[in-house]
Amino acid sequence: MEWKPDRTDKKPIYKQIADYIEQGISSGIFLPDSMLPSERALARELQVNRSTVVAAYEELLSLGIVERKKGSGTRISTDIWGISHKRIPNWGRYVEDGSFLPNLPLVQRIRTETQKRELINLASGELAPDLFPLDPFRSILSEELFTGHLGYDHPQGNELLREKISSHVKEYKKIDTGHSSILITSGAQQALHLIVQCLLKPGDAVAIEDPSYCFSLPIFQSAGLKTFLLPVDQHGINPDDLIALHKKHRIRMIFLNPDHQNPSGTILHLERRKRILELSSEFGIPIVEDDPYSLISFNGIVNPTLKSMDQNGNVLYISSLSKIVASGLRIGWVIGPAQVIERLADAKQQVDFGHSVFPQWVAHQFLDSDYFHTHIGMLRKQLKQRRDELTSSLHEVLADEIEFLVPEGGIHMWCKLKASVNEFRLLEESMKKGVAFVPGSVFGSKKGYVRFTFGRGEAGLIGEGILRFADALKSLQTD
Ligand SMILES: Cc1ncc(COP(=O)(O)O)c(C=O)c1O
Repeated sequence: MEWKPDRTDKKPIYKQIADYIEQGISSGIFLPDSMLPSERALARELQVNRSTVVAAYEELLSLGIVERKKGSGTRISTDIWGISHKRIPNWGRYVEDGSFLPNLPLVQRIRTETQKRELINLASGELAPDLFPLDPFRSILSEELFTGHLGYDHPQGNELLREKISSHVKEYKKIDTGHSSILITSGAQQALHLIVQCLLKPGDAVAIEDPSYCFSLPIFQSAGLKTFLLPVDQHGINPDDLIALHKKHRIRMIFLNPDHQNPSGTILHLERRKRILELSSEFGIPIVEDDPYSLISFNGIVNPTLKSMDQNGNVLYISSLSKIVASGLRIGWVIGPAQVIERLADAKQQVDFGHSVFPQWVAHQFLDSDYFHTHIGMLRKQLKQRRDELTSSLHEVLADEIEFLVPEGGIHMWCKLKASVNEFRLLEESMKKGVAFVPGSVFGSKKGYVRFTFGRGEAGLIGEGILRFADALKSLQTD
């Protein structure tokens, strides 16, 4: 408790304590039906006599704000009607009971800590700040070029941007599509959310990769879906596993991230891509191809997307600008059959009345500029350097402790720890030493892995981050 009684105040200390608790109930610090600290504990915490706390609790008791049962301590009343003439909702219960689930605790923990203090961040799944194309953005924003109108835009998103995306996916991903088959979303994340909400229903079985980004998304559980896991090896998922899963569970949708997969960094083998498409047609199961990373392959060769190979319209294709331009822009898109896109656009309109016009306009200008291609070239080079910095640090410092496959693109490296360690303690110890990473359990069923995001690491600091991680690991092993 940060609050302390004010000893210079004329108000008696017991009254200050009682007032603080009463106000704390209105502001949600203390929740109805929750226990107050014991008299002894609170007295110690506030450095006052126990009798002062007893007097404060007595005061609250006389007002009906707290209740006492013999042997079970002091509890905030659930019904304080008649005291303040206001009924205070039990926010705690509302917060717990909502059908949309919160993030995983580990994800929340990393987010709070990386936002709170300066850490060498090898955890957040995005580009490092020095990789964002700030100068081109400054010039786009400083020119008085904005010609768009400021009303609600088309529910599928700005038409000029959709046209631009259709030429972008044609050029880089060999996908033939028109603007009417595209929906602009708030990142790939919203595209996944809309698909889950609009095309599936509670109890449906879906197949996801293990490990995978989707595993970490409570949106699947919030929607009541049953998720079944397809193990990922060095060439992605094995099509035979899909057959087995489908026979047993009647899979209704498959979620795949075929290129430079998050977190494993793997590429789905071309033969497996072909076989998965065949199976999708044979069983009539749609595939959601989540592709934020294929453009950032270090050798510049972009693998054929499932969408570009899809002859029958079985693939819903998702991508975004988050990992190739800037995550804060919140520009993503889905490409699929017109009726699906219309359904998703209708839902998006209900959720937010369509995407904001400004990021769409900026995204259009940037994709349309001559600079875009140069930017991707620069990014591939920079990311490769960071991957190399991470690889050589791991070899130098942790060769006996860690195993990994060297990714050929993307921003993530997936590492197996040879010894068994408590990942929660490893994370806490590492953050204490000033480096953040993501423990493997966030992404799947396998134990003993960690994900380092070299794309988020700042050049020259990745090595230092690994030294700190190694320090943390050693301190746990010598415990
Ligand atoms: C595979 C994958 N899909 C989707 C997303 C969501 O990205 P965004 O919503 O920023 O486009 C991420 C982000 O880490 C990702 O790794």
